[in-house]
Amino acid sequence: MNFVATLNEVAAKNLRVLEEQIKQSIAEDPFIFEACEPLIRGGKRLRPMLFLLCANSKVDCPPEKTMPLAVALELIHTASLVHDDIIDTSKKRRGVETANSKYGAQIAVLVGDYLFAKAFQLVAENNYGAQVQLILSKLVKNLCVGEIMQDRSLFEVPTLTEYYTRINLKTAVFLSSCCRLGAIVANMDKREVENLTAYGSGLGLAFQIIDDLLDFFGDEKITGKPRGGDLKSGVITLPVIHALETSDKSCELKKIVTTGGDVDAAIKIILDTNAVDYCRTRAEAHIDSARVNLPFTLKTSVALALEQIADFVVDRTR
Ligand code: IPE
Ligand code: IPE
Ligand code: MG
Ligand code: MG
Repeated sequence: MNFVATLNEVAAKNLRVLEEQIKQSIAEDPFIFEACEPLIRGGKRLRPMLFLLCANSKVDCPPEKTMPLAVALELIHTASLVHDDIIDTSKKRRGVETANSKYGAQIAVLVGDYLFAKAFQLVAENNYGAQVQLILSKLVKNLCVGEIMQDRSLFEVPTLTEYYTRINLKTAVFLSSCCRLGAIVANMDKREVENLTAYGSGLGLAFQIIDDLLDFFGDEKITGKPRGGDLKSGVITLPVIHALETSDKSCELKKIVTTGGDVDAAIKIILDTNAVDYCRTRAEAHIDSARVNLPFTLKTSVALALEQIADFVVDRTR
């Protein structure tokens, strides 16, 4: 799956080990393995990859020191997706049937809980210390608050500030925490830690803006998840917010998005505005500010890989 062409050798090798260890982490219980193995297979591994790159950005960090936390990050992410799909009543994720569709919401809640718990077990067993645990706890809390915020205002048009608060909490904090954790594990100085955190934050905002565009215009075969889900479940995102401000069919669009009406009609109205360009430009601006924060002190190979991830985030189709 690698979307980064110039992953340094260490990171590439780490990713192979990561895949193996992710699989092992769900192998303790036969039902958990049956439920999670197909689901865990198709992810991009962006979060552990960011962590591993940052952890290896000065000198090579031994896998024993990085791998359990890298696995924990992917498990936390997967757990959040399992719960997100229950909330959104989504039937497909990573190209396969979601846990809620296959086993029902009751079991899916518990599968997500198990993955969260397993992640924190790995962190506790490997003595990462209180600072790491605090960052992880806060990122999960932020993610929950972001999702709660979203769910408490379904079918309501958010202000731009509300939209940005939400995507920051549910996505950008996670990506910035991955970079921050890598920098901490690599013992980087305070300024480098803050810079890599800021890189992850810009990346995260752009990542969610593009995800929100892909929800309308992506190819389900490539994204592995259903299209148009946001509008159907009442989640109003940046393309809609912008189209509502600029379209001459704004009233019609507002009626559709606040009542869960015809998604195709909404898409048509959105496409008649410059909403897609606007969202891409906003995402590119966040990517630019992410790039500016990349410290000059990184190994060339890591700097290049982080640059490529920045490119990938705006150009991605999956
Ligand atoms: C999906 O994240 C959830 C969002 C924050 C948009 P990814 O797009 O990284 O999902 P996977 O891991 O590749 O499935
Ligand atoms: C991100 O938002 C989900 C989480 C933070 C778990 P979305 O709801 O847009 O994610 P997808 O599109 O379902 O992957
Ligand atoms: Mg969702
Ligand atoms: Mg989405």
